[in-house]
Amino acid sequence: MLKTAANWADGKRRLHMLIAHLSDPHLRPHGHRYNNIVDSNAMFLAAIQHIASLDPQPDLVILSGDLVDTGDQAEYTLASEMLASIRQPILMIPGNHDDRERFRVCFGNNSYIASTGPLHFAVGDLGALRIIGLDITVPGAHYGDMNDAACLWLEERLAEEPERPTIIMMHQPPFNSGITFIDAYCCRQGARLANIVARYPTVERILCGHIHRFMQLRFGGTMLVTAPSTTTAIALRLHEDAKPASFIEPPAMLLHHWQPQLGLITHLVPIGSFQGPLAFF
Ligand SMILES: [Fe+2]
Repeated sequence: MLKTAANWADGKRRLHMLIAHLSDPHLRPHGHRYNNIVDSNAMFLAAIQHIASLDPQPDLVILSGDLVDTGDQAEYTLASEMLASIRQPILMIPGNHDDRERFRVCFGNNSYIASTGPLHFAVGDLGALRIIGLDITVPGAHYGDMNDAACLWLEERLAEEPERPTIIMMHQPPFNSGITFIDAYCCRQGARLANIVARYPTVERILCGHIHRFMQLRFGGTMLVTAPSTTTAIALRLHEDAKPASFIEPPAMLLHHWQPQLGLITHLVPIGSFQGPLAFF
């Protein structure tokens, strides 16, 4: 259950905050595989178990879209069951593989889920950082769009608390990565986002999914980071005419650690069990 803004205001601005960031699980109905090859459900379960094993425990879990793969109701039923085992509050935005209306119905009992229109949210009562979810997905399309309404909504939200350290989470990255076959489906009009964010130096990160790889770059005067998928990785092919492909690389997640005197450190965390701990050397 979400804590109230009044509770937050009693000094949590000064506290550490740890955020586990999952992306693009592409969940399927029970017994089905992602593209008939990858057991995305089992891989998401491994991600959930990995979060449960972290010490200290994250304060919050965020998910940057493509929760499910085809948008079918059976996928949302399974997603809802799996997410119920996460003990932290969860904030999610849809991706291009999600169905916005099924997503809304499935998770509409959470107060941050908008009752109409894009599934934007701004949540500020879960710790030091304010989390903005920016739903730039275009129903029926794979690309995103920083359209007039999204620009206006974001401007208004940032203006509400301009001094507050803030994370913006969106699905499609607003830049060209150099992997041309995925860049065809990026968030269009990304320069508009850069122009807005550049006026708010307290935006600590822009976080994206969609691209199924870890990337980081400077964007709009802040740092933009893309999250790996808990399932497959888009092939790292930087030739202009590269053929689209995916790989089953080691799955991973991000862990964002806010330290009041320092700022936000983002860790890339492989999911799984690995040999160790060994002696420190
Ligand atoms: Fe995806």
